[in-house]
Amino acid sequence: MDIEIEHLVKDFGRVRALDDVSLHIERGMFGLLGPNGAGKTTLMRIITTLLPLTSGQVKVGGKDVMRDPGFVRRHLGYIPQDFGFYRSLNAYELLDYIGTMKGLSRAERQREISTLLEQVNLTKDAKRRVGGYSGGMKQRLGIAQALLGNPQLIVVDEPTAGLDPEERIRFRNLLTHLSGQRTVLLSTHIVADIEASCSAVAVLKQGRVIFSGTPDQLLRHAEGHVWQLEIEPREYETLESAYRIVSSRAVNGHMQVRVVARENPLKRGAPAPAGLEEGYIAAMSRAEEKEMRHA
Ligand SMILES: Nc1ncnc2c1ncn2[C@@H]1O[C@H](COP(=O)(O)OP(=O)(O)OP(=O)(O)O)[C@@H](O)[C@H]1O
Ligand SMILES: [Mg+2]
Repeated sequence: MDIEIEHLVKDFGRVRALDDVSLHIERGMFGLLGPNGAGKTTLMRIITTLLPLTSGQVKVGGKDVMRDPGFVRRHLGYIPQDFGFYRSLNAYELLDYIGTMKGLSRAERQREISTLLEQVNLTKDAKRRVGGYSGGMKQRLGIAQALLGNPQLIVVDEPTAGLDPEERIRFRNLLTHLSGQRTVLLSTHIVADIEASCSAVAVLKQGRVIFSGTPDQLLRHAEGHVWQLEIEPREYETLESAYRIVSSRAVNGHMQVRVVARENPLKRGAPAPAGLEEGYIAAMSRAEEKEMRHA
């Protein structure tokens, strides 16, 4: 189920949270990256019909989200950034409740809930109070509720915060698996999650799309701009004030640093292969340079 976003603007009073956003999102897994306050949650809330837009147009499966919100809601599963659960219910009761809200019949609920609990590996905890679940279990329950009614579009807002690495990978793999037949829109701060699972990615910055393409194309923003060098600890501040340091570690009293920069830092850097995170940083710096020129 495709999402077509054309010249979308969203204002909260004087704050322009989304500024002329146009994106085309197709089947598979689509990643949304961007710093805090970039507008990721706002965009997702508009797509999921929870928030009205100011101007522009958003269509899900060919239907306008403002004119036909019921259609979108019927085909949508949403895992919000802050997931408020009814802590005193158990997983089965909770899914049964949400399934009822989605308009599923009793027989459909019975069939779907046991399959979903199996799929997210919560069958044996289905009768436990949700309030006592770990972060990972809550996330998996979040997926299960989103999948009720077999939606063709799944929107997931920053799902991996607070998950341990193994849970994160499990969660990611589950989403990738689901995206085979559906559209999954995923927002995250973790570039590695995008690298591992998304076929397309967009970067938002202050409400604007500064990049949209494949992870490979994003990575290429940093090609030829990644340098590795060894510095003395006292040089760190000078380097940091002039360049974007992406990583540093102490080695035998020296420091080994990686830097994203157009020119060779301190003229001592060795060119290094770019990673997706560095592509992201390079795209952000490019956007900032552009803003400065226009300021
Ligand atoms: N209900 C609201 N009322 C007023 N301003 C809002 C509201 N929701 C969001 N904003 C503003 O809109 C901008 C975008 O916020 P949004 O939550 O969409 O960003 P985000 O990319 O999801 O950030 P994060 O990575 O921190 O989750 C911010 O400036 C935020 O303060
Ligand atoms: Mg957010």
